[in-house]
Amino acid sequence: MSNTTYVKNTNRKILITNALPYANGPLHLGHMVGFLQADIWARFQKLRGHKVTFVGGDDQHGTPIMLGAEKLGISPQELVDRIEQAHKESLDGFSIGFDNYTGTHHVENEEMAKAIYVKLRNAGHIDVRTIKQAYDEEKGMFLPDRYVKGTCPKCKAPDQYGDNCEVCGSTYETTDLIEPYSVLSGKPPIEKESEHYFFKVSEFEEMLTSWKDSGALQPEIANKLEEWFESGLIDWDISRDKPYWGFEIPDAPGKYFYVWLDAPIGYMASHKVHCDAAGDDWASYWEDDSETELYHFIGKDIVRFHTLFWPAMLKASGYRQPNGVFVHGFLTVDGAKMSKSRGTFVMAETYLKHLNAEYLRYYYAAKLSSNVVDMDLNLDDFAARVNSDLVGKMVNIASRCAGFIVKKFDGKLATASAAPELHQIIVDANDSIAQRYENREFSQAMREIMALADKANQFIDENKPWVLVKDETKLDQVQQVCTAGINAFRSLCIYLKPVLPKLVKEAEAFLNVDELKWSDLNAPLLDHQINKFKPLMTRIEKDSIDDMIEESKESLKATEAANTIDPDSPLGQDPISDEINFDDFAKIDLRVAEIVDAQHVKGADKLLQLTLDLGGETRNVFAGIKSAYQPEDLKGKLTVMVANLAPRKMRFGMSEGMVLAAGPGGSDLYILNPEDGAKPGMRVK
Ligand code: MSP
Ligand code: ZN
Repeated sequence: MSNTTYVKNTNRKILITNALPYANGPLHLGHMVGFLQADIWARFQKLRGHKVTFVGGDDQHGTPIMLGAEKLGISPQELVDRIEQAHKESLDGFSIGFDNYTGTHHVENEEMAKAIYVKLRNAGHIDVRTIKQAYDEEKGMFLPDRYVKGTCPKCKAPDQYGDNCEVCGSTYETTDLIEPYSVLSGKPPIEKESEHYFFKVSEFEEMLTSWKDSGALQPEIANKLEEWFESGLIDWDISRDKPYWGFEIPDAPGKYFYVWLDAPIGYMASHKVHCDAAGDDWASYWEDDSETELYHFIGKDIVRFHTLFWPAMLKASGYRQPNGVFVHGFLTVDGAKMSKSRGTFVMAETYLKHLNAEYLRYYYAAKLSSNVVDMDLNLDDFAARVNSDLVGKMVNIASRCAGFIVKKFDGKLATASAAPELHQIIVDANDSIAQRYENREFSQAMREIMALADKANQFIDENKPWVLVKDETKLDQVQQVCTAGINAFRSLCIYLKPVLPKLVKEAEAFLNVDELKWSDLNAPLLDHQINKFKPLMTRIEKDSIDDMIEESKESLKATEAANTIDPDSPLGQDPISDEINFDDFAKIDLRVAEIVDAQHVKGADKLLQLTLDLGGETRNVFAGIKSAYQPEDLKGKLTVMVANLAPRKMRFGMSEGMVLAAGPGGSDLYILNPEDGAKPGMRVK
């Protein structure tokens, strides 16, 4: 990955963003995954001495906010103002250190969004087309997919959404629903035409391909992009008809920007607000990528917006591309999706009422890596881990040594440490720990830091200052041993500062030092006055967790909790990897297939067209295995296919199934072969 190459540069200028949360409900612990990942990375870069700007804001537009305000009997403006306030309080509570936080409805964003749109339009990247959509006559508005329900055309289950059936899993068009009705009025919608504005994303495939190949993306995300290219980029509908809560499109009365058009522009606007206040040069971050770096942290459900539309929009309006879009997985609690009825759908503010934010900061850090997999908050493990690592190992080092220094030596550290070797071992780990932080391998960093904490505790155990102190002649030794312990603690504080900013702030006061920086590692604290030690962190009590869960169940009863789905956007639900249950798995029909024919596909770099025999039935399948196989080598081979995949229309024709292959990609890709004796059509179990 390219990001590692930046490590050696000094004085990097780094702009960091995290996805802007919707202003339609409070923040929950799922949202905190991205905020904490981005914040820890930003704090790490600052600690290393780089110039870091971390900006955010609320995503304040769209249908749910408009309707939510209506329900409450307040204006959308009032709703988004209230929520902005609540979000800021939660973010502060978790020490998310934004340099600026400005929502997307602010005037800076309006100016920026309109200016960018005009550039897109003037450069010919906007198309106007008439489309047909469901319309609620009573409510007087067009209905996003999620607002039309009806009976599933396949299994006849009632009350299914307009895009897919939650009972039988089939997908269809909204117009296929039997007895469709509007969720808003209950009346059947009519079909109505209107003009929509489209951003011609397909014109940017080449640019997106080279951006993808620049190393800005995690491998699994880069693969996803390839899939999207193969199935063909579709122009993106960026307009919505009134009534809509958003910005009106210039020269198009009654038409508004779709919320996702101005949402990422919010990153630019928030940064602009910061630059105007701080006297920083906005253009050097957005118009030019030679001196500055740009990184977006996002969850896996909004990849398409950030890796197709957003870079294309930036390009089309003359701005730079991001150096990285870092995608994280979703939070599960105790191994399952957050659940309101189980009380595991925990709001940030509920957590903060019961537990120290730094517990969660540490636990997430101890679990986060650079990949896109989901992350589990196991509540028992959470308590055990925090109690053992932070209280039992880390803080313990200081509490075992501080008392002797304060009581016996008036708070003065010795002029020499009893363990220069220990100090050296800890300092020598700094490159490796920095590398792990840089690469967002936080869990590895935490493990390495805790191994060092173990070493420091062992040293204290072996030297037993509590025994030495009983012997008047060994007092010098006590001071030196404790000085070594305090120094180990100080070094570990530097390593943990990105994760535990509050604890380290208190530790700085205890150590009587200025704000610790990475470069402070080298010189130990000797002959130095420290302050009285106060416990820096207490153990997690099981009761606090239970209370938090209980309150989360109650708050559900009181208020309808946050709706985090973007109903306007089927693309919004685009998870990269999601857990499936056994029933889902059992639905997959895996069969042995014989490849009876294989052909190149004109105009496709990655695809081969395969004709598969399933024991009498033949299927046409496009498989992205051209980089690994010549068509002639495949003919006559047996492989495994998913036989009941709904046919997919691809740019080159219909694909009627999927062939299973394994490997990292490129020429390292292997189709799965069944054992000898398998026959086409056999089920794979
Ligand atoms: N408003 C859009 C983002 C616009 S960015 C220009 C949005 N908002 S959201 O409130 O639904 O989500 C905000 C962020 O939180 C997204 O990165 C999303 O992936 C993340 N998460 C929301 N629920 C989550 C979990 N349960 N787990 C982990 N991250 C989650 O999307
Ligand atoms: Zn159905």
